[in-house]
Amino acid sequence: MSADGFTAGPPPGARPDWTIDQGWDAYTSQEHQVWMTLYERQSKLLPGRACDAFLRGLDALDLHRGGIPDFNRINEELNRLTGWSVVAVPGLVPDEVFFEHLANRRFPAGQFIRRPDQLDYLQEPDVFHDVFGHVPMLTDPTFADYMAAYGEGGLKAMGRGQLHNLARLYWYTVEFGLLQTEAGLRIYGAGIVSSHAESIFALDDPSPNRIGFDLERVMRTPYRIDDFQQAYFVIPSLQALLDATLQDFDRLYRDLERRPDIAIEAIAPGDAVITRGTQAYARARARPA
Ligand code: PHE
Ligand code: FE
Repeated sequence: MSADGFTAGPPPGARPDWTIDQGWDAYTSQEHQVWMTLYERQSKLLPGRACDAFLRGLDALDLHRGGIPDFNRINEELNRLTGWSVVAVPGLVPDEVFFEHLANRRFPAGQFIRRPDQLDYLQEPDVFHDVFGHVPMLTDPTFADYMAAYGEGGLKAMGRGQLHNLARLYWYTVEFGLLQTEAGLRIYGAGIVSSHAESIFALDDPSPNRIGFDLERVMRTPYRIDDFQQAYFVIPSLQALLDATLQDFDRLYRDLERRPDIAIEAIAPGDAVITRGTQAYARARARPA
């Protein structure tokens, strides 16, 4: 993901497009161990929880080998499948840089890995979140097209001053999206699949709302970056997500100017409610300790 508020250019050692060498040879055995611990935990948990496209992607990229993957190796297969590649960046990059990469089918991934005491949570996306979480879905041709289109849409939204709305779409799909399948709800969002606790919470907990995806509804809904989501949006298929976003958003952006945000915990008129959440988790967390 990207972040605002960058005034200077890329940090020392980074290229003008903010990429750096992954420096795979320089990872320590402790760093590889962190990857393996996280990998083991998630790959045990996710069958029956993550969608088929994600699980297939994990296999296709052969992420099972152990240790932090070498981007060069991933890229051979990824490029062959969908024309995408992974490029290393030092951390969050400015929005424009991020969208420019996506539009050109390059996914900017954090090069660093979290410390052993941060297995469950860290604020900045590291190589585990970015590669384990995001890259498997990029092996799916439909999702691959969606991400590239999103990059183009991001550049356009920046020009229109509409990034706050478009960022919500990213959040509720790419990061925290759920997919309806014949076998039940499945996860495709990277923020969920890279988190042990949220992979359980998102599907099983009675607290959050789970609502059928609607483009305008999603763009009117704020999100939280500091805790489990209070609402998840469920797409009927990856193709439906791509189809819904093919239209020109100019009209939608204009309409959104006049429509208020929808409270994060609300069920709105017209919502296709899949689960009406109790919001018990969010309420308990909001109470001062
Ligand atoms: N169709 C969108 C537009 O016209 C671009 C977009 C595509 C945005 C896919 C997000 C996802 O702005
Ligand atoms: Fe992410």
